[in-house]
This record gives sequence, C-alpha cells and structure tokens, in this order.
Amino acid sequence: MKAIEIKPGIYWVGVIDWAVRDFHGYVTPNGTTYNNYLIMDDEITLVDAVKYDFAEIGIANIRSLVDFSRIKNLVINHIENDHMGALGIYMELMPQATIYTTARGKQGMERFFDISRWNIKTVKTGDELKIGKYTLQFIETPMLHWPDSMMTYIKEAKLLISQDAFGQHLASTARFDDEFIECASHAELEDAVVDYYANILMPFGRLIKSKIKQIQDLGIEIDMIAPDHGVIWRREPERVMQMYLQMAEGSTNLRVAIVYDTMWHSTEIMTQPIMQGIKDEGVDCKVIKLRATPMSVAIKEFWKSRGLLVGSPTLNNEVFPSVAEYITQD
Ligand SMILES: [Fe+2]
Ligand SMILES: [Fe+2]
Repeated sequence: MKAIEIKPGIYWVGVIDWAVRDFHGYVTPNGTTYNNYLIMDDEITLVDAVKYDFAEIGIANIRSLVDFSRIKNLVINHIENDHMGALGIYMELMPQATIYTTARGKQGMERFFDISRWNIKTVKTGDELKIGKYTLQFIETPMLHWPDSMMTYIKEAKLLISQDAFGQHLASTARFDDEFIECASHAELEDAVVDYYANILMPFGRLIKSKIKQIQDLGIEIDMIAPDHGVIWRREPERVMQMYLQMAEGSTNLRVAIVYDTMWHSTEIMTQPIMQGIKDEGVDCKVIKLRATPMSVAIKEFWKSRGLLVGSPTLNNEVFPSVAEYITQD
C-alpha cells in the first residue's frame, strides 16, 4: 500500500503483512502491519524501519517521496526484528544518516549489525531534536516492552509515535481508527487492542500505569497516536490510553471465563452446570477448552473477564499439561 500523509509533511511508509498467522508463538488471524514514518522537513527524518522480508516494499514507499541519499536522520525506537530487520538494508542506502536511539538500543543494534561505520547518537527522555518546523522529543519506555524501547513525540504535530505500545495486529487497508471502524466495527478494533495487550504487554501492567502517568505529567498534548502495528489513532487517541490504564488496573466487564481441559470429558461436563449457574445469576460467561483454543486467545479471555475458573483433570496426580501452561503464563 502506498505512502499516506498522516499530518502535514508526515507520512506512513510502512507495509502490510496480510499472511502472518504466528507472531513468535502468538496467533495473529488478522495479520499485522509494520508501520514506520517519514517526516519531510528541513532535515528529512525516518522513524523506524520494517521487517526484513518487507524491505523492498518499504523502500519503494520511501522512494515515492524522497531519495534515500536526502534522509538526514533515522530514529530507532525499538530494535526487535519486526521493526529493525530491514535496518541494515536501509543503512546501505542512507549511510549518511545519523541514527538516534537509546543506549540500550545501540547495544542491541551492535549484536545484530556491523555498526562500525554508522553515526549513532544515544538519547534519553526529554532530549529534543529540531529538524525544521518540527521538533522531536524522545521518551524512553524501558520494558514497554523491551529494555531499549522509546517513543518519539512530534511537538508541533501533537503526534506520538508510540512504537509497539497502543498497537494492534490488524492487516487492513484502513490506516486510521475511524476508517477501520467504518469498514469493520468498533468492537473488532477494541478486541484487537485487548488481544495485543494481553499477549505483548501483559507482564508490564504496573509499568504501563506509571509510564502513561509520566507522559501525562510531561504535559504534552496528543491528538494522534501512531503505533508501529495496526491502525493510527486519530479519532480517539485518549480512548486507547484509557483502555490501557483500565487493563493495567485489571478492571474489566462483569464476565466469568471458565478455562479447562479434559481427558475423558468429566471436567468438560462439569463446566456446563457451572456456566448455567453463573448465567442464572445474570453474569456473562465464556467456556474455553484449552486444547481447542490457541493459548494467546485463552490469555485474552482472561483479560476480558472479571472472574476466572480453571478446570483440570488430575493426570498422574498432577495438573494437566495444557492447564499448567495456562496458569503459569506471565
Ligand atoms: Fe517489540
Ligand atoms: Fe512490534
């Protein structure tokens, strides 16, 4: 899909991965996108790269706007392979560029690439880079969700490029939340946010709360959030932040999930009267058989429920393996 202007002079130049169904063990039935952004200012600046397999498409998107030789800066918010896989190929085309990343980002980059000829500047929270009419402000977000992670805020555009945070694994021709809601639904979008949070960010709830608070305390105004996966939040960026805070606090709808596995259907049979009793009390209930459900989907159901009941056969006096795997997830 070709480049799209998301703010004056700021373009989405990412790629859509329609086919990925297994994202390091997490099922992605709707594919994903690897977003990155090009800022056409006095100093032309690229923010993030794409997955290695998609380098050619990503390069064509950038070339539709500018020759790589004119790109002055490259901001690297996060060095995981889905974003940095193509970095080496991009740097061959733009060896003149200065890379801005965190100290941990530089350390990680060293392990993946020969960086001896690259000009790398490390940045910390609050550091700024004036590139013309726009000013970039860097915000470190360690462990959201890797030690190197950071976000880039473009002050004059009130645009937060949030890297993995606030993303969704959705391959779609919709580039914005409102477009997606129009062609699919609000519920589908929110479900994708919960799914992504539950599988990528779940262990970091406490950090998420303090980081969102820190962003709010910086007093920055945000009218658009552009993550590195899925659609860009332009209709209601505050809604996705609110959703993250609610999930970090563990507040969910009144619903109970019964998660179980079974050998000879005994445990399975038990789930039915329990489900009926919950329903009779006026509470929504969902029954999830682990061997029939991808683990990442069962994890999402935990996050969508206020109550959780777990049923397991006692195999050799132990918890059944699939149930043990479920209850020991981070
Ligand atoms: Fe990541
Ligand atoms: Fe990612």
